[in-house]
Amino acid sequence: MKKIIVIHGPNLNLLGRREKKIYGTMSLEVINRTLAAQAKKEGVGIAFFQSNVEGEIVDRLQAAEEEFDAVVINPAAFTHTSVAIADAIAAISIPVVEVHLSNIHAREEFRKKSYVSPVAAGVVFGFGVESYLLGLQGAVGLLAKRKKK
Ligand code: DQA
Repeated sequence: MKKIIVIHGPNLNLLGRREKKIYGTMSLEVINRTLAAQAKKEGVGIAFFQSNVEGEIVDRLQAAEEEFDAVVINPAAFTHTSVAIADAIAAISIPVVEVHLSNIHAREEFRKKSYVSPVAAGVVFGFGVESYLLGLQGAVGLLAKRKKK
């Protein structure tokens, strides 16, 4: 069975309480449960990781290659700042899909820059929790295509 890890960046542990008008009212726990249900339907294994610490996300990405077939990541604020996370994604050979709840291009200027997008297999943003589900679907699709080769 193919396995996917979903990595949530800083402050996403506060989802459901944090800036609800932008990020909605669903908690991270509920988002993860929704993703787990979707993964089950798709027939893939799923694991979750959240950290507020940049280096921990770098470590998780590096280790992911050994255990997982793909990554879905919402790097949150590190999207716009982290060369280290972008480098870790470029360094690993499994596909990484970038997702955001909000439309990062419709907000402040500084959110328009993503260090992650150029090294991501694909990017989904602006659909709230659906962004994660679409990102998962995209990752599953990529793995299915690879299998056929
Ligand atoms: C976010 C967008 C980022 O700009 C922000 O820093 C976040 C969440 C999103 O999911 O919309 O924390 O990644």
